[in-house]
Amino acid sequence: MNELVLTEDWTRAAKSWIQGYEKRDTGELLCAFVYDLESLRKHARDVVQALPDYCRMYYAMKANSEEPILNTIYPYVTGFETASIGEIRKARAVSADVPIIFGGPGKTDEELREAVLLNVERIHVESLHELRRLIHLTERSGTEVTVLLRVNISMDRDLPEATLQMGGRPTQFGMEAGSLNEAARLLKGARYVRMAGFHLHTVSNQMDADEHLALIDRYINTVESWMPMFKLDRLILNAGGGIGVNYADLDKQFDWQRFTEGLHQLGQSNQLITSGRLVMNFECGRYLAAFCGTYVTEVIDVKHNHGKTYVIVRGGTQHFRLPVSWKHNHPFEILEQDRWDYPFPRPTAADAPVTVVGQLCTPKDVFADHVHLPKVRSGDLLLFILAGAYGWAISHHDFLSHPHPQLVYI
Ligand SMILES: Cc1ncc(COP(=O)(O)O)c(C=O)c1O
Repeated sequence: MNELVLTEDWTRAAKSWIQGYEKRDTGELLCAFVYDLESLRKHARDVVQALPDYCRMYYAMKANSEEPILNTIYPYVTGFETASIGEIRKARAVSADVPIIFGGPGKTDEELREAVLLNVERIHVESLHELRRLIHLTERSGTEVTVLLRVNISMDRDLPEATLQMGGRPTQFGMEAGSLNEAARLLKGARYVRMAGFHLHTVSNQMDADEHLALIDRYINTVESWMPMFKLDRLILNAGGGIGVNYADLDKQFDWQRFTEGLHQLGQSNQLITSGRLVMNFECGRYLAAFCGTYVTEVIDVKHNHGKTYVIVRGGTQHFRLPVSWKHNHPFEILEQDRWDYPFPRPTAADAPVTVVGQLCTPKDVFADHVHLPKVRSGDLLLFILAGAYGWAISHHDFLSHPHPQLVYI
């Protein structure tokens, strides 16, 4: 087990909040995201400290851009990775001078202009048209900007098994390597756009440290072969995020220690790195933020329908869309509650497979399907762990106009 991942008590903060919740006696149903900021702080610190000097960690804000989360991570990372003008503004609200990198497909002229005004450190250019527009804008404004070119590289063999693939196959991300000659030609004539390297984010939810090291090795060889085309003597390689979180087998998390040891070894053997000519950037979201969050919700009903048992909770995938989006059973813990105020029996499922669903009027509103539980009753609480990244942030909050969950930061 990787020591960096705080396993012992992922729900400690949530449980202490539930115990102290002053409205507990009013009969109000509980529904909240509870974030353990101290565990987030330690995790971010340890993850970043383990990196060798030639590596820099940016936090990919898309995973969770709530202000207390950003404030907690901010002291430990080099900067923030953003993918919209909204995220850039949130990053600037945290700090006037934190380094910001701006990526994502389909940036508008307005966004590019404001990003430059808000002094982003780098823009990750995703297409030739975007590069032409950026050159055009900067020729008119006279403001300098540094870019990395995002490339969707071809793979001579399969990418590692990952839940999502952003590259190595047709996607809307990045430009093909075949466009690089034209990019080099455009950049040669650009007075204000400085090209500093390449961005290659190709996988998401990578679970294997050795495979990720092998991928990075391939990245380095690939970008090295492009350096002469751009007359680059040194470069930044942004190797993306994509470090995974194991939602199915909690004891088998990504081995960050092994990964960073491999990075240290690479730093001693690779000539570009030993000569100080390659700086590696990472922009992780999930791996930094997932562990600190718990989605707490209360069981409203337990019922049987055509041979299946359903546990219906307060809230739903409009709060926490991750399980349905990734089509997995999300891990949770049951916190039994003794209180029962009604004069009739508690709906209960015991020693049976159940399907845990929310309040939405769609059969897709499922958190976990066919999971075997010893006992669950109306009024018990379910604590969905690993909910700190891509939880509230990716959910369609107002579908059906149910109340939002509380957002609690411990
Ligand atoms: C370009 C880019 N960078 C970084 C990330 C963050 O990835 P993760 O949260 O898997 O680390 C993403 C996620 O989609 C992305 O698209």
